Amino acid sequence: MHTQIILRIIDALWFILPAYVANSTPVNVSKIQFLERYGKPIDFGRSWRGARILGDGKTWRGLFSGILAGTVVGFLQSEFQYRVILSLESIFRDQVIDLPRMSVGLGFMLSLGAIIGDMTGSFVKRRMNIDPGDPAPLLDQLDFVFGAFFFSWLLTGLLNLEHFFIIVLITPAIHLLGNFIAFVWKLKREPW
Ligand code: CTP
Ligand code: MG
Repeated sequence: MHTQIILRIIDALWFILPAYVANSTPVNVSKIQFLERYGKPIDFGRSWRGARILGDGKTWRGLFSGILAGTVVGFLQSEFQYRVILSLESIFRDQVIDLPRMSVGLGFMLSLGAIIGDMTGSFVKRRMNIDPGDPAPLLDQLDFVFGAFFFSWLLTGLLNLEHFFIIVLITPAIHLLGNFIAFVWKLKREPW
């Protein structure tokens, strides 16, 4: 019973992994000094109706690095599955074959969708006069998830509702857990 639930969560995580990677890459890449000059805002600093279109938190560097990193992870996932399926002796074979099938194209669309979903979240925040970095609970954590599922649906015409609901439920929880660990390690000032 419990293992069933855990296996279903692992399935959903395997599917969404490129989007998670695409979403978490930009903030880390923003700390790399020599890429500083590529940190131009996607909206080129322009405003619309009295507020920035997206804001300084959405850069070309983040967009390209996120899509690239997520697509590479999707490629590695598909290679891994392909090789394990070929090697019949593998003891993990049956479990691994059960995982949803990843492909480079799907990894790319999940990553592109994650980045565009995150940009859409920023666009909505700016329209509500919420500054970059200021919290918009749930929107901040889930904008990229919606984008990723939407773009995977554009590619495949399929939307796995079980994957969708599992990811929508556990992503905010993973965020809170990650922030709490960062707080304990004194990387963050607040525990949330
Ligand atoms: N980032 C980036 N390019 C992107 C997305 C993120 O360079 N396309 C970097 C920025 O340095 C950003 C950081 O990652 O400040 C954290 O991303 P996020 O929390 O999404 O942005 P915020 O700064 O909080 O801005 P917003 O309110 O628009 O989400
Ligand atoms: Mg943010």
